[in-house]
Amino acid sequence: MQTRRATGVSCSNIALVKYWGNRDHVLRLPSNSSLSMNLAALTTTTTVEFRSDLAADVLTINGTVAQGSARERVITHLDRIRALAALNARASVTSHNNFPAGTGLASSASAFAALTVAACAAVGLSLSTDELSRLARRASGSACRSVPGGFVLWDACDEDDCSFGRTIAPPDYWDLRDVIAIVESAHKATGSTEGHVLADTSPLQAARVASTPARLERCKAALLARDWPGLAAVVEQDALAMHAVMMTSQPPLLYWRPATLAVMQAVRAWRADGLAVAFTMDAGPNVHCICPADSAPQVENLVRAIPGVVRILASGVGGGSLVLAETPAHPE
Ligand code: DP6
Repeated sequence: MQTRRATGVSCSNIALVKYWGNRDHVLRLPSNSSLSMNLAALTTTTTVEFRSDLAADVLTINGTVAQGSARERVITHLDRIRALAALNARASVTSHNNFPAGTGLASSASAFAALTVAACAAVGLSLSTDELSRLARRASGSACRSVPGGFVLWDACDEDDCSFGRTIAPPDYWDLRDVIAIVESAHKATGSTEGHVLADTSPLQAARVASTPARLERCKAALLARDWPGLAAVVEQDALAMHAVMMTSQPPLLYWRPATLAVMQAVRAWRADGLAVAFTMDAGPNVHCICPADSAPQVENLVRAIPGVVRILASGVGGGSLVLAETPAHPE
């Protein structure tokens, strides 16, 4: 029997300027460029083992064998990597998220970034960070931003070969924190992949896409200047623009719960009182409270006291995807 095995670790990321909608759903070429920060405290560790004795790919997530669409999506991505490496062997994929189950934070970004770097290392493909990011994008758009480290800009680009994430500032450039208010732990009803397909049914999507380059430039400039008021304003505006599209899609996607709005309102009131904090949300009801490190303890205490917040997770800025171990092909 021949085995080829490697382990990858990737951080999740939170978008400060959002990806929502695709120009090409098959290639996952996005409708607009986006910008995110990796989350050091939310990681996926994935071991991929290609084995000549396996009849089918096996996926285990947090100790449970996965079936159905989750497994199919992983197989499709393994097929891309097998094609690049001219390899036929099936794989055993074992994945573990360090963030607690039942937080609604199932992360395709960290999962597909870790799968990409582990599988490529296992088969001995030596791809650059740009190439790995581009490959991860095919499996999950946001995963391309979890391959490089720190603050990452995903240039939408016109072509497949230039659409990937690049670091614009390293993790230690600005000690920002994400204090995540978990308001509901149930799995979301409509996932991002279906949501991207619905985006163009909203009359607001064209306006959001047309106005994103200006927000992206403001966000990048604020980040590079460590301009907190500038960053806070654009992060909230961009999150609201994405949710306006979601709410006006057909059918509409209304992810917010009463506690989502309670946290958003509170964040605005705290900022008006001088506390440095801004909100953003993904395709779900949980609220990400972005703040400079020195505001984080106060933000955590305040968020925890809001009725409906069931749990808090906090993270600093994370690095890029890593390969932990690589075992070249060997006979057993
Ligand atoms: C709302 O990357 O999860 O989090 O490409 O279908 O896997 P797929 O979608 P995904 O979309 C992320 C959407 C978002 C905004 C963002 O992270 O930019």
